[in-house]
Amino acid sequence: MDIKITRMTGEDVDEIHRIESKVFSEPWSKMAFLSDISNDFAIPLVARFEKKIAGYACLYKAVNEIQIGNLAVSPDFHQRGIGTKIMDYIIDLAAKQKVKVLILEVRQSNEAARKLYLKFGFRVAGKRKYYYHKPREDALIMIREVD
Ligand SMILES: CC(C)(COP(=O)(O)OP(=O)(O)OC[C@H]1O[C@@H](n2cnc3c(N)ncnc32)[C@H](O)[C@@H]1OP(=O)(O)O)[C@@H](O)C(=O)NCCC(=O)NCCS
Repeated sequence: MDIKITRMTGEDVDEIHRIESKVFSEPWSKMAFLSDISNDFAIPLVARFEKKIAGYACLYKAVNEIQIGNLAVSPDFHQRGIGTKIMDYIIDLAAKQKVKVLILEVRQSNEAARKLYLKFGFRVAGKRKYYYHKPREDALIMIREVD
């Protein structure tokens, strides 16, 4: 699939929020995405297939790390390699930005996401007790060193 990944803009936010509300039990607000778009430390990305928004990710850069704060693929496009394309892009970006580590949190029960991250060389580095609600659940902290 020919997937194009670009910076998120305000025009993307309605559709991204529609996807976000479908895939998460605690969806981010539209304002959260809009504030990332105007935050110098945030790198909000959108992935398109034939102009349709297929997925997105919100990254945060600190001195030596990039945190993956959000990442999702529209259910219309699940298991067609788009999550993989977004992760490829993030890993490439992390290398270009010369950060040392990528870090993220994931629901313990989120098997699809955990498998995606394991496939990309992330490992479990810790746990945040009851980090999530709806349902209440621990977060796994996963990290990956950047070569
Ligand atoms: C997790 C998610 C981003 C994966 O996106 P995707 O485009 O479907 O993923 P891909 O097709 O690129 O698959 C990549 C790998 O992810 C894993 N994976 C994806 N869907 C899976 C599923 N339903 N069950 C088990 N593993 C799965 C597999 O390891 C897969 O590799 P493989 O095809 O070699 O087996 C997607 O399921 C999603 O958006 N889920 C809801 C939002 C979410 O949970 N985001 C992550 C928050 S931390």
